[in-house]
Amino acid sequence: MWTRVWRSCVALLAGLTCVRAEEDACPPACACERGSGTVSCGAAVAGVPARVPPWTSTLIVRGREVTTLRRGAFRDNGTELDVATLSLSSNMIRVIEADAFSGLPRVHVLDLSRNRLEVVSDGAFNGLLELRTLCLNQSIAPGGAAAQLWAALASPSLWNLHRLELAGNGLRSIPPAQSGLHQLVLVNNSIETVSGDDVTRLDQQRRTRVYLSQNPFRCTCDLEAFYHWLKNSSLQCPDAALLRCSQPDARKGLALEKLRGEDVDCVNEKLEAVSYVFLGMVLALIGLVFLMVLYLNRGGIKRWVNNIREACRDHMEVYHYRYEQDSDPRLANVAV
Ligand SMILES: *[C@@H]1O[C@H](CO)[C@@H](O)[C@H](O)[C@H]1NC(C)=O
Ligand SMILES: *[C@@H]1O[C@H](CO)[C@@H](O)[C@H](O)[C@H]1NC(C)=O
Ligand SMILES: *[C@@H]1O[C@H](CO)[C@@H](O)[C@H](O)[C@H]1NC(C)=O
Ligand SMILES: *[C@@H]1O[C@H](CO)[C@@H](O)[C@H](O)[C@H]1NC(C)=O
Repeated sequence: MWTRVWRSCVALLAGLTCVRAEEDACPPACACERGSGTVSCGAAVAGVPARVPPWTSTLIVRGREVTTLRRGAFRDNGTELDVATLSLSSNMIRVIEADAFSGLPRVHVLDLSRNRLEVVSDGAFNGLLELRTLCLNQSIAPGGAAAQLWAALASPSLWNLHRLELAGNGLRSIPPAQSGLHQLVLVNNSIETVSGDDVTRLDQQRRTRVYLSQNPFRCTCDLEAFYHWLKNSSLQCPDAALLRCSQPDARKGLALEKLRGEDVDCVNEKLEAVSYVFLGMVLALIGLVFLMVLYLNRGGIKRWVNNIREACRDHMEVYHYRYEQDSDPRLANVAV
């Protein structure tokens, strides 16, 4: 009887330690460092690790073929993880399903840089209630998921988001962003101009610092509103001194700060255009008047041409006559 109880106790204990050991086990192809709470997974295996130790506070998965982040990809059988930093850069992620990050309520920093997002669900970022920094640089596939991403970023879950990095995505305009954002990093994109509406929006989101260097600005009068905003709100664009014109050729490489008001003055530019059009019209009018005068006077002109022709003929005849006389050898003899 006692031996049986003892045996089952041993079995139970073994089972418990076994469960603990299994929970603590480092996933395949990962390096686990309990002291710092870091689990770092490399490329040898595809997909995200199915189960990480419960003490994990920093989870890094890099260089893997992940392709799709499925719903609850990090939720280990319904339990939540205390991960604070989740780095998923360079994994060829193309799809993020709704609730992909559920079970990770304490993530502060999420790095999704250098992926190829094509499909992003509206609910992709659901449950990331403590997310403060989201890195998405060089991550949006060309012609891909930008609009879907903006919709997903509007999720009320992200009310705590402070910093959004969108460098190197070929963006052509300033994306709509949460009003609570402190930093919006848009360096190294393809933004040529900032519309008046975007300027109004930036003006309303006074708390947001916008980083815009390494964009190919077109310094024409389209940029007028932005130019004045930059002068007025330089604090809101901390890298304002680094902004450069790429177009037109005459202003290539010129700092936006060095532009003068009249360089981007639409009234000036329009006036110039208007004055050229006006000059053209005046010239055309003069031409027309000239042609009309010619036309109305065609009788007189004909007469005039005839007169000239006749005068010429008379003259030629006289000349001809003289020539014949001069060249007559008999006459020459007579003269001698
Ligand atoms: C997951 O949880 C269910 C019940 O909630 C349990 O039956 C199952 O064994 C668990 N699986 C793992 C792998 O822990
Ligand atoms: C891009 O993302 C990384 C994080 O992976 C970050 O450290 C870096 O500052 C970001 N910005 C740029 C411009 O590369
Ligand atoms: C800028 O972004 C492109 C991708 O759009 C990338 O290839 C390039 O390395 C980035 N440049 C810098 C200086 O980060
Ligand atoms: C500041 O903004 C106002 C209107 O918003 C504008 O009239 C003014 O010219 C701007 N100041 C500068 C220095 O550009």
